[in-house]
Amino acid sequence: MNRNPHVAVVGATGAVGIEMIQTLEKRNFPVGKLTLLASARSVGKKLKFRGQEIAVTELSENSFNGIDIALFSAGGGISKEFAPIAAKDGCVVVDNSSAFRQDENVPLVIPEINAADVKQHKGIIANPNCTTAITLMALYPLHQAFGVKRIFASSYQAVSGAGAQAIAELRRQVGEIVSGKPVTKEIFPHQIAFNVIPQVDSFLPGGYTKEEMKMENEGRKIMHHPKFRASVTCVRVPVYRSHSVAVSAEFEKPVSVEAARAVLKKAPGLDLIDEPGNKKYPMPLFTSEKDNCEVGRVRMDCALDNGLCFWVSGDQLLKGAALNAVQIVEELLK
Ligand SMILES: NC(=O)c1ccc[n+]([C@@H]2O[C@H](COP(=O)([O-])OP(=O)(O)OC[C@H]3O[C@@H](n4cnc5c(N)ncnc54)[C@H](OP(=O)(O)O)[C@@H]3O)[C@@H](O)[C@H]2O)c1
Repeated sequence: MNRNPHVAVVGATGAVGIEMIQTLEKRNFPVGKLTLLASARSVGKKLKFRGQEIAVTELSENSFNGIDIALFSAGGGISKEFAPIAAKDGCVVVDNSSAFRQDENVPLVIPEINAADVKQHKGIIANPNCTTAITLMALYPLHQAFGVKRIFASSYQAVSGAGAQAIAELRRQVGEIVSGKPVTKEIFPHQIAFNVIPQVDSFLPGGYTKEEMKMENEGRKIMHHPKFRASVTCVRVPVYRSHSVAVSAEFEKPVSVEAARAVLKKAPGLDLIDEPGNKKYPMPLFTSEKDNCEVGRVRMDCALDNGLCFWVSGDQLLKGAALNAVQIVEELLK
């Protein structure tokens, strides 16, 4: 790999794409050249990188000549069509969509957990689902110490998880309600302002949504734990940024709050914020734009054997997307 790679961001104008550009800059990733790709709608737009304006160009089959690394965040359809073309042109693709996550030839990586899997790539590496990534940042260190059997979890997912237009929808609906106008909706199936929606993604025949089943399927692959089980309810909440997850986890080995806190305190990419007496616990308002995820509300689960409850919050545009993707490409240069 070129030590100063030519990097392309596919979906550069989107909620994740913008964060990709900023994260490359913030982490001083040694970008030799940056190419910004989006749809025809964005041609002519300029985005700033290291103080310079870069014009967005239209994604096409010919976009990947001479590019070393392509960070894809333009939706599953675009990834399915263009990631194989990019890989064929010699590019290493890190894909944010769900298109390749369960493909056995594609590593699915959270660098704090399974960085070594990066080396097995054949041109495409998948970035995990955002809710799964944030949950595993706290669950995996506990799994290493106590051996997780299964979890029951509910997510509280920010609107930015559904993209730039979803952020605009919450802002618009709040304005409409405050000024007494009828509420309009385009992105979410129901009003999201002053509401919660117990549906993220589409429903599967068993009654779970696709988003909910990602926790078990992706968790098994990332943790190399084929028997891991997860029953999840994913909920969209009127929060702009940062997902939170309430988790009840059952372990093989006996667990205590003190032992769990000691493990979580040392975990990479995670801050333990757990002083309930002082009203200190993770909240999305304070994990937004922050690289590390936060965990707190650690307590024994009163309904499970060897069970622990905890609450984890993290910026899904960062650890759930852009930051994790940039950490993956940093692994490639090691
Ligand atoms: N948002 C999150 O927290 C998050 C977290 C993890 C993974 N992801 C995944 O990342 C991807 C992008 O999500 P997002 O939230 O950033 O969505 P978004 O804000 O809606 O952005 C979508 C991006 O894709 C581009 N795009 C759309 N159609 C295109 C086309 N035909 N050709 C080229 N570019 C096209 C858009 O360009 P224009 O501006 O030109 O339309 C825009 O740059 C999705 O696969 C999503 O599942 C998102």
